[in-house]
Amino acid sequence: MSTTSERTTVEASPVYPAGSRVNERGHLEIGGCDVVDVAAEFGTPAYIYAEDDIRARASAYLEAFRSRTDDFEVLYASKAAPITGIYRLCAEAGLSVDVASGGELYMALRAGFDPEQIYLHGNNKTETELRYATDSGVGHVIVDSFGEIERLDSMLDRQQDVLIRVTPGILPTTHSYVQTGGLDSKFGFGLEDGLAERAIAEVRASHNLRLVGLHAHIGSQIFELEPYVSAIEALAGLTGPDWECRILNVGGGLGIAYTSADEPPSIDDYVDVKIRGVKRVFDPVPRVLIEPGRSLVGNAGVTAYEIGTVKEIPNVRTYLSVNGGMSDNLRPMLYGSRYEAIVANRAGEVSDTLATVAGMHCESGDILITDAMLAAPAVGDILVTPATGAYGYSMANNYNGVPRPAVVFCRDGDARVVVRRETWDDLVARDVE
Ligand code: LLP
Repeated sequence: MSTTSERTTVEASPVYPAGSRVNERGHLEIGGCDVVDVAAEFGTPAYIYAEDDIRARASAYLEAFRSRTDDFEVLYASKAAPITGIYRLCAEAGLSVDVASGGELYMALRAGFDPEQIYLHGNNKTETELRYATDSGVGHVIVDSFGEIERLDSMLDRQQDVLIRVTPGILPTTHSYVQTGGLDSKFGFGLEDGLAERAIAEVRASHNLRLVGLHAHIGSQIFELEPYVSAIEALAGLTGPDWECRILNVGGGLGIAYTSADEPPSIDDYVDVKIRGVKRVFDPVPRVLIEPGRSLVGNAGVTAYEIGTVKEIPNVRTYLSVNGGMSDNLRPMLYGSRYEAIVANRAGEVSDTLATVAGMHCESGDILITDAMLAAPAVGDILVTPATGAYGYSMANNYNGVPRPAVVFCRDGDARVVVRRETWDDLVARDVE
């Protein structure tokens, strides 16, 4: 136990959804809902989103564009949280959508996206996925390999708009697992090796593919802005006198605050840099597309757990075990990501207790937070990890036969389940006996 004290400042924190606060009962409140009540009503673990926070970030992206250009699209990179309720919310807000598989395409269509507004990505799209996309009238396919160019061309009997995914040879500072813009990448066509130019020639020589633009996504959870400019400059070199890049998709990647020590650029600054970069080097200026995932939904969601076990090892550390872990948030284990936590039922109290938050899975590496500062955590408390709205739900799994959590949307004091919790029956629902 430590004597260092930290005051919780949920209201001022960029890590929590906008509008979060400590209410009169001293409980954490999100989207106007008392998280302790939400946990009691819907159970734990639960992914809890403040709906309006997502809306506000979607508006921030749209506004940032509107004030600088009239030809743009903001795509929700739905791999961040492929939840029907979020697809719907983004469609209603006027966003388009990036899907990375037939499954995400299915969800986007079902949620009501106009196929024209759907962009299909993937470095290994199957024939079934490509056929599903073209049959559904998906507006744009981002072609990623020579094999795909051939496959897609030969299965079509009409014109299909495509963008070419380019790996511009840029490595921003982020975890190597989520750097995607380097020459040595499974994605897209490189610049340095001349493959991008060859891809352009092949698409242009195809029967049914109409080359309308280029795409580059250099990575994720990026705080720097310069690499985006370098990527845009690199892409500009691919346009020639004989073909016009009408659509330029500059990818996603804006980092978010996982802890109060993180200071990511604002959505406005991020958009500004990208648009200024495009205007400087592209003539004519193409339609600019951006593909945020994490920065739309990451800080909008938190995860609520219940503390079930406290283990104090004298002179070593105190472990708090919660009823989830690497099955609902793989990020600490995959990328060494750092999170904060708060005891939701003691949110107004001083965080003066040092403890390590562990999951309930059968691995010592199942640690959500090493050395968290918390307010006197005890068995039965509701522990919340903020900034879990992106790549938590989407990478969840059933390790150790653990059902995946419910997803709850909170707005103006109303909480509703938008994805029900899995049950033990779900674990055997696909069995064939
Ligand atoms: N566009 C493309 C083509 C992408 O591959 C991605 C993310 C995005 C857009 C959205 O990037 P964002 O704005 O979310 O950074 N599981 C990892 C993140 C993987 C990102 C994959 N691609 C994590 O939890 O950090």
